[in-house]
Amino acid sequence: MAKVEDAIWTTEGSRKRSAVQGMFAEIAPTYDLLNSILSLSLHHRWRRFAVSTLKLQPGDQALDVCCGTGDFMKPLRTAVGPKGLVVGMDFCEPMLVRAQDKVHEALSLADACCLPVGSSQFEGVTVGWGIRNVPDFDLAHQELFRILKPGGHFVSLDMAVPVNPLVKRVSNFVTNMLIPKLGSLFGKTAAYTYLPKSTQKFWTREQLAASMERAGFTDIMYKDLLLGNVCVHYARKPGARQA
Ligand SMILES: C[S@@+](CC[C@H](N)C(=O)[O-])C[C@H]1O[C@@H](n2cnc3c(N)ncnc32)[C@H](O)[C@@H]1O
Repeated sequence: MAKVEDAIWTTEGSRKRSAVQGMFAEIAPTYDLLNSILSLSLHHRWRRFAVSTLKLQPGDQALDVCCGTGDFMKPLRTAVGPKGLVVGMDFCEPMLVRAQDKVHEALSLADACCLPVGSSQFEGVTVGWGIRNVPDFDLAHQELFRILKPGGHFVSLDMAVPVNPLVKRVSNFVTNMLIPKLGSLFGKTAAYTYLPKSTQKFWTREQLAASMERAGFTDIMYKDLLLGNVCVHYARKPGARQA
């Protein structure tokens, strides 16, 4: 019988939730190193771009959902300044422990599909490589919409399947062959098999945009990065920003 972590990308609902939680607990110690190798360290630049789409102002309140080891929190702090608030939430404690070592911001154990936050609290919300992992994409978008203030912005970075057929073939080779091999060097083959499999099973750019629209977002846009292997979606909650 297949081990649970070998087939997370085929699971849904609460089974996916606990399998994903266990997988990130397992890879937390090596997450940052492998993330930098796999993104060629470009993820810092993508995060700065993503945060710029939020149009945050000094003193604003920003939340990073599925915050992992906290790499979105530094650009968010730069955007909101010393008087602003930056909060990170994730449902995996070992990932939050890593974040605690790196950033001095408020961190909380929470599920993206049921955030322990009142409605209309934040001017900006980020999610980095998180939506693909939640058990219910629609529900997560609804929660992110709920906690944003009217006029607030949401941005999500995640893996994508390249549209260009040649790039897609090269990416398939890299993600299906090289990434699991790299993961195996760290003894994490299953987790790094999950990355390409979950990307292939993930919703398309258009399906994600439609889910955001169903949740109530407006001005939805997306932009490919790394030749379409990564995509950033950004959107706004309707309404005027309060002065
Ligand atoms: C690929 S990591 C990304 C971490 C971080 N956002 C980054 O940009 O490096 C995905 C993170 O999402 C978290 N996650 C997955 N599903 C979640 C859920 N339902 N609720 C909260 N966090 C979740 C995992 O624990 C993990 O830390």
